[in-house]
Amino acid sequence: MISILLRGRTLSFLRWPETIDDHSAWRYEDDGGLLIRDGRIVAAGAYAEVEKQAGQGVKKIDHRPHLLLPGFIDAHVHFPQMQVIASHGAELLDWLNTYTFPEETKFRNAQHGRRIARLFLDEMVRHGTTTVAAYCSVHKASAEAFFAESHHRNMLNIAGKVMMDRNAPEGVLDTPQSGYDDTKALIEEWHGKGRQLYAITPRFAITSSPEQLEMAGTLCREHPDLHMQTHLSENHAEIAFTRELYPQLRDYTDVYEHYGLLGKKSLLGHCIHLSEREADAISDAGSIAVFCPTSNLFLGSGLFDYQRHRRRDKALRIAAATDVGGGTNYSMLRTMDEGYKVIALNGEKLNPFQSFWQLTRGNAEALSVLEKVGTLDQDTDADIVVLDARATPAMRLRMETIETLAEELFLLQTLGDDRAVREVYVAGRAAKSDMAT
Ligand code: GUN
Ligand code: ZN
Repeated sequence: MISILLRGRTLSFLRWPETIDDHSAWRYEDDGGLLIRDGRIVAAGAYAEVEKQAGQGVKKIDHRPHLLLPGFIDAHVHFPQMQVIASHGAELLDWLNTYTFPEETKFRNAQHGRRIARLFLDEMVRHGTTTVAAYCSVHKASAEAFFAESHHRNMLNIAGKVMMDRNAPEGVLDTPQSGYDDTKALIEEWHGKGRQLYAITPRFAITSSPEQLEMAGTLCREHPDLHMQTHLSENHAEIAFTRELYPQLRDYTDVYEHYGLLGKKSLLGHCIHLSEREADAISDAGSIAVFCPTSNLFLGSGLFDYQRHRRRDKALRIAAATDVGGGTNYSMLRTMDEGYKVIALNGEKLNPFQSFWQLTRGNAEALSVLEKVGTLDQDTDADIVVLDARATPAMRLRMETIETLAEELFLLQTLGDDRAVREVYVAGRAAKSDMAT
C-alpha cells in the first residue's frame, strides 16, 4: 500500500462562487494536508488533523508555500492537432481544409499516432491538466494510441475516434458502417478499462452524412452512459453550409436533436451563435456548451456569451476548453485569461474564484466525472496540481503587492502558464517531476 501525505495551501470548490466573498463556496486551508493511498485521497483538511491519520512510513511531501488544487480539466481538445497549432490566416472552414485535414491524414500511420499521443499527454501534464475530453483523428489507430498512452499513465481521459464521411479529403474519411464498426470495437476495448472513457465523436454536421449521423444516434442509444462530443455553431459560414446540407431541419442544433445526439453527456464545442430556440433545446436536453476562448479569438469565430448563457431562464451547462490546435495554448490558465477577456468584451467580469471553479469542479460537473475528479474531497482520485504564484520574475514582483487569495489566483490566471505548475499528481503519482527526469 503506497501512502503519501502532501502539505500545502489547499483549495477546492463546493459550488459556484457567486461573489468574491462567497467563502462557503470553497474550502481553503492555509496549512492543508492530503493523505493519499493507492491513488485516492483518503483524508483532506487541516494538516495537523490529516497527519494524525497518516500511519508509520508515510512519505511526506511539503509543497508550502504553493497551492494544491484539483488537476485542471480540458473539456475539448484535438490531440492530432499539435502540429496545426499556430497556423496562420484562416477562418474555420479554410483552416480545416488548408491545415487540419491534411495534418490529420498523417494519423493513418499508427506510429505517428503513438508518438503524438505521448507528446500530447506530456504537454497536458506539464500544464497541470489531468483530464481531457479529446478528439482523435478518423483513424481507429489514433484512438488506440491515445487510450494506450492514457491508460499507461493511469489518467482519467475521455476520447473518441472522429466519425466523418464527407466534405473532407479521402485520407480522413470513414463510412457510416466503418465509423460505426470502429467505434463499437473501440468502446468494447477501451471504455471502462482502468480510467478510460469513450466518447462517441461525430466531428460536426458538415462532415457527416445523414446516414452517419443516424449511426451515431444508434451508438448513443446503444450506449446511453457514454459521452457524445461534436462541434456546434462556431462560425457563420459553417452555420450557412450546415443549413444547406440539412434544409429540412429547423436550425443547426436541430440536426443533432433530430439524430438523437443531445443528452446529458453531450459536449457541444463552441455554441457561439445560438438562437434562443437552440439554447432552450440544449438546456432542455441538459447538454453542455463548451467555451473555447483562445480558439474562438484565434479563428475569429466570435465571442461566447458565458454570463448570458449561465444566467438565462433555461440556463446552459458550460465547460471550458483549449480546443488545441484551433486554440493557441495548452494551458487552462491561459485559457481562462482569454476567457476573462472575452467575457469582458461582453461587458462582464468573471471573478477569480469562478474561473478556478470552472477549471476544476465546474468542468468535472459538466463532464459528469465529479465523483472521481475536480475536487480534493475524500474518496476521490488524487489528481492534483501544485501552483507557484512566484514562478517567474514578473510574477514574483507582482506577488510583493498581493494580499488576498483572490488576487493570487487572478495573478496565476493572468500571468501563469506551465511555469507556474510545480508538480502534478496523477492518481497519486508525481507525474510532472517524473517526466522531467
Ligand atoms: N469543427 C470541426 N472540426 C473542428 C476542429 O478540428 N476544430 C475546430 N475549432 N472546429 C471544428
Ligand atoms: Zn474542436
